[in-house]
Amino acid sequence: MAKEFRNIVVLTGAGISAESGIKTFRDADGLWENHHVEDVATPEAFQRDPQLVHRFYNERRAYLLDGIEPNAAHRALAKFEAGHTGQFTLVTQNIDDLHQRAGSRNLLPMHGELLKIRCKRSGQLFDCHEPTSPEQPCPCCNQSGNLRPHVVWFGEMPLHMDEIEDALSQCDLFISIGTSGNVYPAAGFYQMAKAVGAHTVELNLEPSNHGSRFDDARYGPATVEVPAFLQSL
Ligand code: APR
Repeated sequence: MAKEFRNIVVLTGAGISAESGIKTFRDADGLWENHHVEDVATPEAFQRDPQLVHRFYNERRAYLLDGIEPNAAHRALAKFEAGHTGQFTLVTQNIDDLHQRAGSRNLLPMHGELLKIRCKRSGQLFDCHEPTSPEQPCPCCNQSGNLRPHVVWFGEMPLHMDEIEDALSQCDLFISIGTSGNVYPAAGFYQMAKAVGAHTVELNLEPSNHGSRFDDARYGPATVEVPAFLQSL
């Protein structure tokens, strides 16, 4: 690619972690790990059945910690960032820690982190590698029922939005990787990048909802397309 890009924003979704063994969300049967999203990933679900919601995230956490590793796409992004002299912002919708483990530094996990829990009262965050329960007393207020997964549920505001909008407003290259473009605000980031004149690229297994609106698109597995595209920059 002839032009040299200075300010790069990358958005990743479930597709980048698929080849590490983590299922994407929108399988053909419309279920997410055998649950309806509204039963496990909304504030109302947590209020209605905290046991079920804790169990659901305990299972996801145990699975993530049981041998799941970053793949060539996570590693290529971290390597590219380390060698890039301009701005590089990696925004992920994923709650796994595979970008962190691959070595990405300027990372904004906008939908939260599976390996953290949060006090509902104080907002304080705690690292979490063990199962949690509604009975567990919170380390900061010592009350049970106050700890919740540090995950953004449907109907809640994504995290780091100011920093993300700031990075998008200055970017000259926007790359969307492994996301279907169903969930806003992330699904609209390419428009914000376009509005400031950035070159927009989609790397995905198949065209996303907005695939035809990107300036450039490469379709194939992330472990192939991401290293190849970054190499071409
Ligand atoms: N390489 C590249 N892309 C892939 C691969 C792969 N190996 N496997 C699947 N994909 C693509 C799919 O074609 C699909 O377009 O990844 C995309 C995954 O889409 P979704 O399952 O909808 O995941 P995502 O876009 O990250 O979901 C957004 O929805 O449920 C919420 O909060 C959750 O962060 C999540 C948000």
